[in-house]
Amino acid sequence: MSDYVTVTFEPAGAKAKVPAGTNLYEAAQQAGVKISGSCGGQGTCGKCQVHVTGGMVSEPALQEVELLGAPLIERGTRLACQTQLLGNAVVRLPSAQGAVVRKALPAESVRSVPLAPNVRRYDLKIPAARLDDQRSDFQRLAEAITEQPANLTATVQCLRSLATALRAEDQDVAITAVGSQVVDVRPALERAPCLGVAVDIGTSTLAVYLVDLETGEHLVTAAGQNPQTQFGADVISRIQYANSHPDGLTVLRDDVLTAINQLIRQAVEEAGAALADVYEATIVGNTCMHHIFLGLEPRYLAESPYVPVTTEAVSTSADRLGLQMNPRGNVFCLPCIAGFVGADTVGVIVASELTRRDRPTLAVDIGTNGEIALWSGERLLTTSCAAGPAFEGAQIHHGMRAAPGAIDEVFVNGDDLAVHTIDDQPARGICGSGLFDATAVLLELGLIDTKGHMVDGGSCGTLSDTVAGRVAGEANERRVVLADAEQSANNPIVLTQRDVREIQLAKSAIRASTEMLLEIVGLKPDDLDEVLIAGAFGNFINPASALRMGLLPEVPEGRIVGIGNAAGAGAILTLVSRHERDYARQVAETAEHIELFRSSDFQDRFAEYMIFP
Ligand code: FES
Repeated sequence: MSDYVTVTFEPAGAKAKVPAGTNLYEAAQQAGVKISGSCGGQGTCGKCQVHVTGGMVSEPALQEVELLGAPLIERGTRLACQTQLLGNAVVRLPSAQGAVVRKALPAESVRSVPLAPNVRRYDLKIPAARLDDQRSDFQRLAEAITEQPANLTATVQCLRSLATALRAEDQDVAITAVGSQVVDVRPALERAPCLGVAVDIGTSTLAVYLVDLETGEHLVTAAGQNPQTQFGADVISRIQYANSHPDGLTVLRDDVLTAINQLIRQAVEEAGAALADVYEATIVGNTCMHHIFLGLEPRYLAESPYVPVTTEAVSTSADRLGLQMNPRGNVFCLPCIAGFVGADTVGVIVASELTRRDRPTLAVDIGTNGEIALWSGERLLTTSCAAGPAFEGAQIHHGMRAAPGAIDEVFVNGDDLAVHTIDDQPARGICGSGLFDATAVLLELGLIDTKGHMVDGGSCGTLSDTVAGRVAGEANERRVVLADAEQSANNPIVLTQRDVREIQLAKSAIRASTEMLLEIVGLKPDDLDEVLIAGAFGNFINPASALRMGLLPEVPEGRIVGIGNAAGAGAILTLVSRHERDYARQVAETAEHIELFRSSDFQDRFAEYMIFP
């Protein structure tokens, strides 16, 4: 075996020359090809499937035989993370790799606030210097600004161009100040837009919202997948990657930064503006994403006592972080609350004005981690639970994100089950809202019992033959066909017994946490004015299904409100208003974080809520 081998990835034709013995997953990274995966290369999620169409690779590993089965392996399907290159090879990527993200934030879901951004634009005619007025250029400029921020200064770069800019058009200028620093003075005719971006760094998805800071208008949303998903679906896998590779943190940071910069460029181009017109960015993300973005050591988030490097808001210049916008612009990262309750939760609280409400309200952010905030009317309690990424499609046999072809609704239609898919495409998998519905419907039909066992279709006397015929397999291998071959381009989509177990674990963690928070402040579920569901599928969740499966405290259905990507909305609000930024700081300072997950009480509750109602 020669030392180096070449692998070609079709259909793009990307190539990598790597040491023999490198696995296909790593080779793909070197070729700049993204392959999905949610187990950090452990060979357990089955998401990194590729087709080896030629060349020399290792024999199938045990995990591959178990996950894929002999017929698929014979046709060349392999798990990229388990397949080593022994010679040159050609690999074809299935079209499902690199799926596009559907979720974007509708601008109208952001509440309206008086415009008071940290970036100010002044269009002024500055008094010309005279022999009897020998104030410096900067002094004349500063004194022409009414309501100027205290201690106004200017960057050196700005001072270097100031004299010329002032005199180019008879002292008519457009001035841009970020906070108390003037960063740009241009002749009025060269006036350009004054923009900002709100960035939501999700564990799975990224979203960039471009906003006009002079009008508050939301101009463009650009969204994409977080490329770090190739290192694992959840934050723990990312931290493990950072810990176990000498340059792990740098790789993770570079990956996400590159993707965010690409989205900023895309949004700016679509708006017909320039990167230099973007003067401020606000950032939300869970504590792990926040740490990686800033290049802070994430290791201790995952080790007892789970301490972040900082929970304070961080403000720094764009060029220091490598964010592609005006290099003198400012980047404001919202504060975090605890190791697993991050700036994204602060964003949710800001967007929903949780602590400005008169009545007790619960906010649940369902993502790869479950983050919960309870406002009692006087106290703000937060906690997190390792809900697992099941509701985002990971660890679910046919799980996928909310993208075209994902089953997002399951319902009974006549004497059969029916599904709806995103964009009415042939079914490719099932996303979070579809999982909620499928579980609720199968519970209702008696196909799942209260302990979470899938029962034999024949033993449910009340089932139609059509529904009973959808059940196949025995015991732990039992499954229900949700979309048959005709509805799914010949790849039937099933919900398996193992999937139900994952769903049970996730819902039980969230329910046990919410019930325990309520007890701490002496409230009952019925005292809750509203239960707000944030997260990628917050707007798509069917409240009846969430209640039926026991995910949420028992409140009347009408009190459950989907608030969509509220973390992103929080980032937008703090971009357009300094007062909302102060509110974010105040939220983080006053939150009482409760560590429930490892208490014995929690374990008892967790076991209790494994049972379906
Ligand atoms: S099985 Fe390969 S990344 Fe999970």
